[in-house]
Amino acid sequence: MSNSISHPIDPPRLGEPWLLTPGPLTTAWSTKQAMLRDWGSWDSDFRAMTARLRTGLLDMLGEGADAYDCVPMQGSGTFAVEAMLASFVARDGRALVLANGAYGKRAARILDYLGRAHVVLDKGDYLPPRGDEVARILAEDPAITHVVVVHCETSSGILNPLKEISKAVEDAGRELLIDAMSSFGAIALEPADIRFEALVSSANKCIEGVPGFGFVLARKEALEAARGQSHSLSLDVHAQWAHMNKTGQWRFTPPTHVVAAFLEALRLHDAEGGVAGRGARYGRNRDVLVKEMRALGFETLLDDAWLSPIITTFFCPADPAFSFARFYEIMKARGFIIYPGKLTEVDSFRLGHIGQLDEHVMRAVARAAGRALSEMGVTSAAPPQSAMAERARLCA
Ligand SMILES: Cc1ncc(COP(=O)(O)O)c(C=O)c1O
Repeated sequence: MSNSISHPIDPPRLGEPWLLTPGPLTTAWSTKQAMLRDWGSWDSDFRAMTARLRTGLLDMLGEGADAYDCVPMQGSGTFAVEAMLASFVARDGRALVLANGAYGKRAARILDYLGRAHVVLDKGDYLPPRGDEVARILAEDPAITHVVVVHCETSSGILNPLKEISKAVEDAGRELLIDAMSSFGAIALEPADIRFEALVSSANKCIEGVPGFGFVLARKEALEAARGQSHSLSLDVHAQWAHMNKTGQWRFTPPTHVVAAFLEALRLHDAEGGVAGRGARYGRNRDVLVKEMRALGFETLLDDAWLSPIITTFFCPADPAFSFARFYEIMKARGFIIYPGKLTEVDSFRLGHIGQLDEHVMRAVARAAGRALSEMGVTSAAPPQSAMAERARLCA
């Protein structure tokens, strides 16, 4: 293993734009190439690949990983979130969902569909749920069995304070379920540090695979206890786990090419220095991008202390010459696919910094943004006063 990667990263070989989105993201050429071969899903070679995928992911948990097992689930990330909630929150259980953006809200919506009792602590667009708030709610509501938290809320880019939340949940004797979709593989999440029952993530985020499956990492005793709890055949984590352990196979057609690509992505992840190496590159990407964008006059939604190494929200400039639709088209023409914002009160856009991107790309993004402002005739990238007032709420 080495901590160094070759810089600068090669641009996408087919000339497609860089993806500044939080997955699907720009993948390595060798990851794409790994999909050129066909695999028999029943064959021992593919079973060995599935086994390697599971151990590779478990190893990323670090200290305390022995108590856990990895269960890959076909589908996008949301399928894995739904599978986790349906399998670990018992039919007579009750969940507390911590929401500060779209993905927390989606978890609550899933529980609605599943008919599982739940309460929501809704902090709005981005304010973080805090440990003392969680402790208070759990003390007042002893029927709550599980707390559901989103690690990096990708809709604003905030990194929620997982450590203090997990401590509050552990002190109250409840269980923690984590949506670590956009953080797993780049931000350490070790059971020795954060106590949790299960987490989910997917192939096309920080491990830099292509879309097609998600995975659940769960404590083995919770996997045993999940038998018969799911409402759904295809999303039953216990059934997938038991079948995989018995036969080495997925229960239903596996995304064979996606698994092959993922193994190459895991190899590259390891070669970059694992979670620490990957997180260091993403952190550097963020630091360079934020510095360069601020130099152009853009402002971030979040204070530095809350910025994740995954994705950053910027306010749209107040200048009436600015139009997000035009900005998007100009950036695309210059080779960058950017992402609209998800704030309800103020206009914003997001730039992801995960995937096969490095600081050189980040500088090129900021240069392109500067040229886009000139092309639109925008003289100042400063946001409206209302945006700055919104940000002040986070510091209060
Ligand atoms: C934190 C989080 N949870 C859930 C999801 C949903 O994943 P998918 O869009 O793959 O269903 C995403 C997607 O970006 C996410 O960032």
